[in-house]
Amino acid sequence: MSEQTTQEYDENLMALLEAVWGEGFMSPGGVDEVDRYLAGIELVGLSVLDIGCGLGGIDVHLIKQHGAAMVTGIDVDQALIDRCDLLAQKNDVASQLKFICVEPGPLPFGDASFNIVTSKDSIIHIPNKKELAADVYRVLEPGGWFVASDWLAGYEGEPSHEMQEYLVTEGLDFGLASAKTYLEALESAGFTDIDIVDRNDWYQQQARQEREQMGGILYDGLASKVGTDFLEHEIEVWDKMIIAIDQGQLRPTHLRGRKPGLE
Ligand SMILES: C[S@@+](CC[C@H](N)C(=O)[O-])C[C@H]1O[C@@H](n2cnc3c(N)ncnc32)[C@H](O)[C@@H]1O
Repeated sequence: MSEQTTQEYDENLMALLEAVWGEGFMSPGGVDEVDRYLAGIELVGLSVLDIGCGLGGIDVHLIKQHGAAMVTGIDVDQALIDRCDLLAQKNDVASQLKFICVEPGPLPFGDASFNIVTSKDSIIHIPNKKELAADVYRVLEPGGWFVASDWLAGYEGEPSHEMQEYLVTEGLDFGLASAKTYLEALESAGFTDIDIVDRNDWYQQQARQEREQMGGILYDGLASKVGTDFLEHEIEVWDKMIIAIDQGQLRPTHLRGRKPGLE
């Protein structure tokens, strides 16, 4: 475990994301979207690694609703890990959840340590998809699934002017890659049964609802929590993101692949 902490997501941003996306969530769609990207994957009694666990809402859900035996959540931000521990206690599942602050880089686990590896909207922060896919493959047991969702680039090379504007306004450290790059990374790691499902249509609608709530029903409560300047800045982020989503430059995407089992 490391006390090192990379804090890109500060208190204000966390408060805003939880207000828009739900307690314990730093990505859109809540538990319904988690259930969709996990559809058909059996977790009962299994050990799961969650890369980029954020505030821990997904990990609590994997224990309580999917019957996972043990979930290990890793993140690079100690403040988030502390919040995950509190959420686990609040939900009475602390004995089945282990949260670890890690340094960016190779996964700090032995070979074949987990039955399932998952991740939601966090691999965007990890620039080298090929290295990550190989490392995920290594820590999976034979027969295990990598099941994830992430923000993908809808372009090769340079983003559009509007996408660039969104990225600058968002200001987070993103390492976006295309579906082709993810596919090549998963294939070269050795995954089979690879499936990549674009969610751009879904998020075009969803993002508009979020933006409407931020400027409407959530506005006063959020303004008193995070301040009007910060809230107005985030509304601008959403406006620019919606243009990037509509252009197909930014594409939420479900990803999965299986490590072949022992014959
Ligand atoms: C958009 S949040 C998603 C959090 C959570 N999965 C969710 O959907 O609510 C991305 C998370 O990835 C974490 N992160 C960034 N770089 C990472 C890395 N190299 N390894 C693990 N987590 C990382 C961030 O600290 C953040 O908590």
